[in-house]
Amino acid sequence: MCGIVGYMGSQRAYDILIQGLKRLEYRGYDSAGVALIDNDGCMAVHKSQGKVANLETRAQAGNIGGNLGIAHTRWATHGEPSDVNAHPHVSQSGEIALVHNGTIENYAVLKQALADHGYEFKSETDTEVLVQLIEYIKHTTSCSLLDAVREALLQVEGAYAIAVVEKGDPDTMIVARKSSPLVIGVGDNETFIASDATPIVGYTDKVIYLKDNEIGVIRRGEPLKVISLTDNKPSDVDIQQLKLSLAQLEKGGYDTFMLKEIFEQPATLRDCLRGRIVDNSSHVTLSGVELNKDRFINAERITLVACGTSWHAALIGKRLIQDFCKMPVEVEYASEFRYGNPVLNDKDIVISISQSGETADTLAAIQLAREKGAFVYGICNVVGASIPRNTDSGTYIHVGPEIGVASTKAFTGQVTVLTLLALCVGQLRGAIDDETVKKVATALNEIPDTIEEALKVAPEIKTLSRVFSYAHNFLYLGRGYNYPTALEGALKLKEISYIHAEGYPAAEMKHGPIALIDHDMPSVVIAPTDSLYDKIISNVQQVKSRGGTVVAIVSKGNSTMNKIADFCIEIPDVPECLTPLVASIPLQLLAYYIAVNKGKDVDQPRNLAKSVTVE
Ligand code: AGP
Repeated sequence: MCGIVGYMGSQRAYDILIQGLKRLEYRGYDSAGVALIDNDGCMAVHKSQGKVANLETRAQAGNIGGNLGIAHTRWATHGEPSDVNAHPHVSQSGEIALVHNGTIENYAVLKQALADHGYEFKSETDTEVLVQLIEYIKHTTSCSLLDAVREALLQVEGAYAIAVVEKGDPDTMIVARKSSPLVIGVGDNETFIASDATPIVGYTDKVIYLKDNEIGVIRRGEPLKVISLTDNKPSDVDIQQLKLSLAQLEKGGYDTFMLKEIFEQPATLRDCLRGRIVDNSSHVTLSGVELNKDRFINAERITLVACGTSWHAALIGKRLIQDFCKMPVEVEYASEFRYGNPVLNDKDIVISISQSGETADTLAAIQLAREKGAFVYGICNVVGASIPRNTDSGTYIHVGPEIGVASTKAFTGQVTVLTLLALCVGQLRGAIDDETVKKVATALNEIPDTIEEALKVAPEIKTLSRVFSYAHNFLYLGRGYNYPTALEGALKLKEISYIHAEGYPAAEMKHGPIALIDHDMPSVVIAPTDSLYDKIISNVQQVKSRGGTVVAIVSKGNSTMNKIADFCIEIPDVPECLTPLVASIPLQLLAYYIAVNKGKDVDQPRNLAKSVTVE
């Protein structure tokens, strides 16, 4: 949800900024822009609607020199995607340029006050208000840029990660954050800043994750200074080692990041499981749980909060925790939970699930849960992100950077960690017998190989996808553990192919959606041979008898469904609780190939951004 990047050093800033923007483009691609200060202090600003490639074409016709610069790739919140609304925004006098990720909530009040002082606004953005406010403070109080930024931020309500530069000063960049991420890369006589570490990889492995209400002062030839926004005192600088490689950020021979991420799931799940199933699969260990075992043993309820795909993983987590821990579990959309006045106490555990660890609603939900006394646990992919830094404990899914906007390997990583967590907590609470642990943990340990097997269905799905590329609506049906799988399959198709798709509990279909069934509306039915198989067979028959077309996802060796369904896709047989992990593979592939057939940009679907850091 907007990416910012900045550079000060001895290399040409433009090149580093453009490469950084491309790595951050997954966060938003409505428009992009760059502000450069050359060594004479002249400022050049280039902006363009659309992707970073458009910006490059435009910028190269102008001045792109200088060793200091800031840049931005936008996911529009205030104001449509356009050249004028693109960042960087520049103050009225043209002296100060600023890039921003976040939302200034009180921008309307500030804008009016500045307008009363004669300020005029070119864009519809909240960000332009902030840069004008900085200039107004600087001009009226004759203070330094740093002091003006600090004073302005004290007046601002909302979320921000910002970078600010000033005409005439090729040696200073000011950055700050509150509720939006900002990473500083410390190189040899050069400094990088970015919304996440990806633009920094390959230049330095020393990073600082700026904390909320901190300002970073980057001055050429001086060590980085971090000060507290609230009391203006120096803060400790905690330099951490970055463990990301360039190879993880590249497509590795695949046409798209999404396809790479689908196919790397066997490897990512091996990383996710490593060291967590022990003693010949008789024991599951998660340090984040075990270090807080009294909390988990004495808990009276678990509430899972998340958004989007992560919320679908949470629905599967609910089943797992109920089955293995025998305790009440609730699942909430983070955006509803945070405004729902939840009743919580110190016997509650709230588990947040988030790939990025930056989703604004999920972050706010856990902050609320902590205020109310709950123990907050985070399941996250991005190491060092805001959510893991705001939880009491947690587990990383360790599936590596997910760059395709449509989540695939993060979903299977989340479901894997939720399975581990349910087994681990179930053991601690004495709610699960040893035989079940052994059976599930053994199969879970083999899941990377099982998924490797499941991926072999790709050519078959590619062929099948041609039959369905022209459908306008899809129904995805599943029951039990696979009702959330149906929701996730439908979301994948919607996101990248723009085909309308609904996920439904298969039995619920007859209470309304069945009215939609005709031969133009295919139904994808997740029907592994599990405890509800006989029930779902009836649901398939109900669709078929109304002229619907059925694609069924069935367990290997199934010999009944092919007599009813139009197409059957086989998946390896696994214990019922693990079927979502395996069944989601053909659904990811189906969505992918349909979108490709329709010529869509699967990695950067329209209107979406990878990490949603606004409400
Ligand atoms: C997944 O395909 C989506 N792009 C989206 O629903 C995503 O899962 C959601 O925005 C939550 O993101 P998070 O996991 O980073 O919190």
